[in-house]
Amino acid sequence: MNRILVWDLPTRVFHWLLAGSFAGAFLTAESERYRDIHVVLGYTVLGLVAFRFLWGVVGTRYARFSSFPIAPRRVLQYLKSLFTRSPQHHIGHNPAGSLAIYAILALAVLAGITGYAAYNEIGGEWLAELHEGAANAMLGLVVAHIGAVIVSSLIHRENLVASMLNGYKNGRAGEGIRRKHWFVAAAVLLATAGFWAGSAGLLPEGMDIRATAAVAQHQAHGGRG
Ligand code: HEM
Ligand code: HEM
Repeated sequence: MNRILVWDLPTRVFHWLLAGSFAGAFLTAESERYRDIHVVLGYTVLGLVAFRFLWGVVGTRYARFSSFPIAPRRVLQYLKSLFTRSPQHHIGHNPAGSLAIYAILALAVLAGITGYAAYNEIGGEWLAELHEGAANAMLGLVVAHIGAVIVSSLIHRENLVASMLNGYKNGRAGEGIRRKHWFVAAAVLLATAGFWAGSAGLLPEGMDIRATAAVAQHQAHGGRG
């Protein structure tokens, strides 16, 4: 067994930014006072998931969707194997984890879109209800996800949390990925930081998309008001 690189940097940066933004959006959801922060973090979740859909197609071996398909029969086989003496082991996402990941990504998109609708008063009360429902369902899955990570770390005697941090797992030489893609990871980090800074009004006008749009709108209205 060797230490092999499994999770590229963009996947790890995506994961922890998603976890933080989701937690932040949830914690700021109830109060009108934090609504702006809630909306910014909600859009961050949407942006991150959009990136992940792209990276799922062009990313490295274990980050690609083709390496962790939705396969209900394999989920059952995997879960059954956990109760035997030789539980199935997967270098990338296991079949049950894969299913949870797709559900989390789908609910994140639903929460983001319905949040946008609620914020812009499109669609009425039921969309706001759907928004809350999607966010709560996502929270339920995240709790199950964290539980499953702990259980499967114990069963397989490998620290999955550490590998989502440093990218490495134990495996056969040749099974690992070769590149970390730090440049893509830096771009994701910069885009997120830029969006947050712009939303907080910290960027100079020329760099801030929202301020630039506001100026353009002002000029379009003949500079009045
Ligand atoms: C709070 C919100 C969280 C969300 C929305 C979330 C979501 C996800 C997603 C979408 C993936 C798939 C990664 C990918 O391929 O892109 C994943 C994997 C993973 N997450 Fe989380 N996660 C959250 C919190 C956590 C926490 C707190 C931990 C640590 C205790 C954790 C540990 C992991 C690990 C270890 C994996 C890789 C699982 C594997 O080896 O197959 N996650 N998570
Ligand atoms: C994707 C991550 C998101 C999560 C997890 C989330 C979560 C929640 C939750 C749980 C509530 C219910 C709060 C309550 O108890 O009243 C809520 C309300 C709300 N959220 Fe989000 N949200 C997200 C994204 C967004 C986005 C992107 C927007 C706007 C663009 C948004 C706008 C709102 C608004 C306006 C409400 C109040 C709805 C009402 O009138 O009841 N959210 N959100």
